[in-house]
Amino acid sequence: MGKIRFDDQVVVITGAGSGIGRAYAHAFASRGARVVVNDLGGNRDGTGEARGAADTVVAELAQYGGGAVANYDSVATVSGGERIIATAEDHFGRVDVLVNNAGVLRDKSLLKMTEEDWELVVNVHLKGAFCVTRPAFALMKKNGYGRIINTTSGSGLYGNFGQAAYMAAKMGVVGLMHSVVAEGSKHNILCNAISPVAASRMTDDVMPAEILEKLKAEFITPLVLFLASQVNRETGMIFNCAAGWFSRTAICCAPGLCIGDAKREITPEEIHDNWMAITSLDDAVPLDSVVDSFRFMTSLF
Ligand SMILES: NC(=O)c1ccc[n+]([C@@H]2O[C@H](COP(=O)([O-])OP(=O)(O)OC[C@H]3O[C@@H](n4cnc5c(N)ncnc54)[C@H](O)[C@@H]3O)[C@@H](O)[C@H]2O)c1
Repeated sequence: MGKIRFDDQVVVITGAGSGIGRAYAHAFASRGARVVVNDLGGNRDGTGEARGAADTVVAELAQYGGGAVANYDSVATVSGGERIIATAEDHFGRVDVLVNNAGVLRDKSLLKMTEEDWELVVNVHLKGAFCVTRPAFALMKKNGYGRIINTTSGSGLYGNFGQAAYMAAKMGVVGLMHSVVAEGSKHNILCNAISPVAASRMTDDVMPAEILEKLKAEFITPLVLFLASQVNRETGMIFNCAAGWFSRTAICCAPGLCIGDAKREITPEEIHDNWMAITSLDDAVPLDSVVDSFRFMTSLF
């Protein structure tokens, strides 16, 4: 196939002032995209803000000649999300790609997590993805084209210690992805989610230096560029990616066991006695929608 390019396409990347988002900005711009570099420019824990993060990346992108513009709004409010997308529309007239990437970290165990910590983390990751996706979706629907990539996390997908808000929010963006998939497919708006592992200020104190060296943010960009391209036809998928490793992961449903016929009472003892079959993941498959899961309830049909 020919080289994937984004000439005449407009790409909005949230949290593009550092880490993985900055790597995306370079990769898209180097392949012809016009890029909106959104970044609030705060600290890792979500405190503070500064325009320098987004401005620096916009200055770096000048070398590619495609045009880049900074936006400093927080993703975490509806008005902020609208201004981010308005920045793209005002400067470039459209939005083809949205990468929901902005993130903060406040790791605390459940009992130590305050309401403020919870709200900040969930607001940036989950509400933030909604606040930017909604106005982007409206423009994409008008244009009959769009590619959206949500950023989930292994913590949310598989679990971790001490990240309740982060984990809940990162599973939440998978739910938001399903919503875009269901409502966007007929308008050629596709949405997928990626779960990256990369060296950034988010991970610089949780992994040893020799491992971080192998986890360059640039190793995440090929998958995101592919998913964001016109070549991509997939929607509703979740991918792990790190250090050159790419793998699909999925929420699956197993056939399980129909014990009764929905006409008689089923006892907890029967659940115990059939535990192996109920919990088996043999023949588990990913589903296209909740309706798809109904076919397993054979007692209903
Ligand atoms: N680095 C990893 O290994 C890893 C693993 C799993 C998921 N992720 C996710 O990848 C994404 C990028 O993380 P990173 O590792 O590059 O971290 P990072 O801290 O380098 O980048 C996050 C960026 O988001 C910006 N940001 C924070 N709050 C914002 C807001 N309200 N509005 C706009 N911008 C805001 C920050 O200023 C920062 O530049 C995050 O969503 C993170 O949760 C990262």
